Amino acid sequence: MKIQMYGWSISYDTAGEGVPLLFIHGYPLSRKIWEPQASGLAAYARVILPDLRGHGDSDATPGPYSMDLLAEDCASLLNNLGITQPVVVCGLSMGGYIALAFYRKFAERISGLILTATRAGADSPEGKANRDKAIALAKSSGAGAIADSMLPKMFAPSTYADQPNLVEHVRGMMAGTSVEGIVGALQAMKDRPDSTPLLPTITKPVLIIHGSDDQLIPLSEAQMMQKTIVGAELVIIERAGHLLNMEQPGAFNQAIRQFIRRC
Ligand code: MLT
Repeated sequence: MKIQMYGWSISYDTAGEGVPLLFIHGYPLSRKIWEPQASGLAAYARVILPDLRGHGDSDATPGPYSMDLLAEDCASLLNNLGITQPVVVCGLSMGGYIALAFYRKFAERISGLILTATRAGADSPEGKANRDKAIALAKSSGAGAIADSMLPKMFAPSTYADQPNLVEHVRGMMAGTSVEGIVGALQAMKDRPDSTPLLPTITKPVLIIHGSDDQLIPLSEAQMMQKTIVGAELVIIERAGHLLNMEQPGAFNQAIRQFIRRC
């Protein structure tokens, strides 16, 4: 489905009824990463799956993007869907950076926060330099080159070896992202603020889910967030990497089902 925003259109899916559960995908992906959650959780919640600006079937707009802008897009989608009650917000990786921005801007709209395969800190100087290299690669060689450079690190080594169809599915998603969207997201990640000072101020229930074999964002980042957010729960999913929700959907969905009962 599509909704017209100011000068561009956002694509999204919804499934199920009940507690609103907003899933925010990572970079350079799309709402399709949440297919196992749409099918596994629609009996328990109203699942809302947007494609971020410049990703999936949503239109790309010229940059610069920011985490705040992408969080505002998610809030506008909820407004357009008439969802005024608090929602559980689940963000994966860059989606987690956006979920933290959403909390900063709209804490009253959140009933629970799920931070998965993500981190609170800003980019290091080396990380920022790598964003510039990726921007140059996207502009010179396109989304396929970005997909090839990232793909092996998106999964646990065991998933990469054993699930070639899943790997190919994700490659297609990445290669289908617009260069404008890729550059916008890279710039937004490079400039994102450090959310570490926010963590001890969070007063909503928080679930952190991380893959034991995440090669992009180490497990220690999740452990640090759990120590800093009062009452946060950490679920570690074994034999799962950065895309743990697709690699081990049963364990991932079970953790979410238990959490939404708490919210
Ligand atoms: C993501 O998976 O969303 C990104 O790779 C996160 C990042 O590059 O910081």
